[in-house]
Amino acid sequence: MSEIVLQANGLKKSFKSPTGSLNVLRSIDLEVHAGESVSIRGSSGSGKTTLLQLLGGLDVPDSGVVKLQLANQGMISPHRCLGQGVGFVFQNYQLMAELSAWENVALAAQIAGHGESKKEALTLLALVGLAHRAEHMPSQLSGGECQRVAIARALINRPAIILADEPTGNLDEVTGKEVMNLLLEVVAERNAALVLVTHSKEFADRTQRRYFLSSGVLTPA
Ligand SMILES: Nc1ncnc2c1ncn2[C@@H]1O[C@H](COP(=O)(O)OP(=O)(O)OP(=O)(O)O)[C@@H](O)[C@H]1O
Ligand SMILES: [Mg+2]
Repeated sequence: MSEIVLQANGLKKSFKSPTGSLNVLRSIDLEVHAGESVSIRGSSGSGKTTLLQLLGGLDVPDSGVVKLQLANQGMISPHRCLGQGVGFVFQNYQLMAELSAWENVALAAQIAGHGESKKEALTLLALVGLAHRAEHMPSQLSGGECQRVAIARALINRPAIILADEPTGNLDEVTGKEVMNLLLEVVAERNAALVLVTHSKEFADRTQRRYFLSSGVLTPA
């Protein structure tokens, strides 16, 4: 079995709500190996986004531990490698409106301290089929094109793992399939692992390991 690139143990997360404490994640254990694809399905409000945010270090668990593989540094907390060990793809793309496509991709490298990266950004835009749109602003791109830019951005720091939260949720059926094909293709090509949150059984079935999130726990689907 290949090396582990993400390890989560005993994750718990609750939120305060007007009607009391909401125990969203009760006990989550998850291991993802290099190059592996894993999907998580679950009803709306079951805690999928909350879980991905904990896995990527965008939020902290109430208890439990997350570790990510960072090149040359072994397994470390996502807070210590934010922007490097993990790439995110969001449902609503989360591109910077005032930056062009290539600048959006390059920004992720700059934030991670990699300096000038226009060449690599252009290479990645070519990889996702958008070489001809590199100078376009997000407002001048279609939804599918925006998500391709976001996929290129997620790859630029060569993360060991990509976390994708309903990446096709805002796209029509045909474009959604194209984007999913591309995502699965590029993660395989770059040997990145993928954790895919999706409502689609069809897309989930294309990943190697499948889970269902319900009542705050993951069960194999
Ligand atoms: N910051 C917060 N404060 C209070 N409650 C929250 C907060 N974030 C999420 N929740 C609640 O936690 C639950 C899980 O939310 P989450 O966004 O993780 O669900 P989800 O599975 O991603 O749903 P969807 O499929 O609709 O995206 C929801 O009931 C939500 O209302
Ligand atoms: Mg969600």
